[in-house]
Amino acid sequence: QDLLENELPDTEVIIASNREPYIHNRDGDVISVQRPASGLVSALEPVVRATGGTWVAHGSGSADRETVDANDRVLVPPGKPAYRLRRVWISDEEQDGYYYGLSNEGLWPLCHLAYVRPIFRESDWQAYVAINQRFADAIVREATRPDPVILVQDYHFALLPKMVREQLPKATILTFWHIPWPNAEAFGICPWKEEIIAGLLGSTVLGFHTQAYCNNFFDTVDRFIESRIDREHRSVVHAGHETMVRPYPISIEWPPAALAGQKPVDECRRVVRERYGLPADMRIGIGIERFDYTKGILDRLMAVDELLIRHPEWKGRFTFIQIAAPTRSKLASYVNLQQEAQRITEEINARHGSDGYQPIHLVIRHHEPEDVYELFRAADLCVVSSLHDGMNLVAKEFVAARDDERGVLVLSRFAGASSELSEALIINPYDVHGMATAIDRGLSMSEDEQRERIRLMRNHIRERNVYRWAGQILIDASRIRKRLKVNELH
Ligand code: G6P
Repeated sequence: QDLLENELPDTEVIIASNREPYIHNRDGDVISVQRPASGLVSALEPVVRATGGTWVAHGSGSADRETVDANDRVLVPPGKPAYRLRRVWISDEEQDGYYYGLSNEGLWPLCHLAYVRPIFRESDWQAYVAINQRFADAIVREATRPDPVILVQDYHFALLPKMVREQLPKATILTFWHIPWPNAEAFGICPWKEEIIAGLLGSTVLGFHTQAYCNNFFDTVDRFIESRIDREHRSVVHAGHETMVRPYPISIEWPPAALAGQKPVDECRRVVRERYGLPADMRIGIGIERFDYTKGILDRLMAVDELLIRHPEWKGRFTFIQIAAPTRSKLASYVNLQQEAQRITEEINARHGSDGYQPIHLVIRHHEPEDVYELFRAADLCVVSSLHDGMNLVAKEFVAARDDERGVLVLSRFAGASSELSEALIINPYDVHGMATAIDRGLSMSEDEQRERIRLMRNHIRERNVYRWAGQILIDASRIRKRLKVNELH
């Protein structure tokens, strides 16, 4: 907030993302509020709570229409209003094309090298264009001045920056791409690559999690579109407009809100073990995420199998709890994954389980942030085994949850987070044997070593929290705004 006032005084902030931060659902007579499982939302929400303004997002809950005013707006967070949520409505048919189709069967696998073949349908593309235009129009209508600061989030809105720029040429458009950007060769299979790149280049600043993704983007621009690239100053000029392309590693709020009401770690350990019917001295490994094929969940389950084969001494002494929130369940690739995970879990439990001992607990259900933090605090070890992941905030949340300075993080080298959290046990999720070895090593790690590692990671995240992430983007934006104003005067 201070930063906004110092660097960008008197500015209007509008943010656009597909997923909304608060979802109203009706169950009989009761309306409840859900906070979605989305790295994007957990990162952005505290920032917008601090800046205020308007968040434009898809209204997806069963009671969303009943909870907005005549202009489709609702004040959030419920009970503690800090900003306006402006809902945009999308029909089921449009959702099939724009969200399930182009966004999640096309761009998601295109950008994640997880060996699921991207699907590109012309009708999905048409829906994607139409919804991007709908959000652009909503933003323009929400804007009360000609030069707002607009934060565009993620792969659902590649065309939005250009569409907004056409109507609000003076807007400062800050776009953040929350998933990886693949190499030019891989991106080249997309039939609408030129339109997507040109759309993004309507931004004032375009951010990725890492320098490697920025480099891939420069290579892609270079290969497919007429432009002037200045790698030293990290900018691209296309159609007479300049875009800065920069890495901004995203993070979490510090201290995390979900940590505030937590019971002491010993109490969390006790409560969780009781809930799962586990003896008090059972060691617990935990995996928590959306049920997504990029997360390497199957590979992780197989690593638990391998661990129990190679180190049978852990049988009866170690349990893995895998929490997976159902996601995008209309798509075959997601349904298949769930079935496969259930099958593998049953197999492993049959192979190594015995009376009263179940090696893997697979829980397919959404958990609210407070429950997730309780599980983190109860665990001895957390496994993040993404096959490819823009950043992965679960890794950072686990570390943040451990104010007792205990616990081991096993982290995939293919998650953006691994370039920051080098004190984790870094693994290659494609190497099941290596992953099993890391789990064994984590379970055997001395308390001193755990403390040393997690302390360094906590310091890093405390320092590089999400306010700093947002601050960095806003500082860059303010410099550009000042420069443009000076140019205007001349
Ligand atoms: C990733 C994406 C976000 C998305 C989230 C949850 O973090 O980068 O844009 O919101 O997954 O996925 P969903 O499809 O449920 O919004």
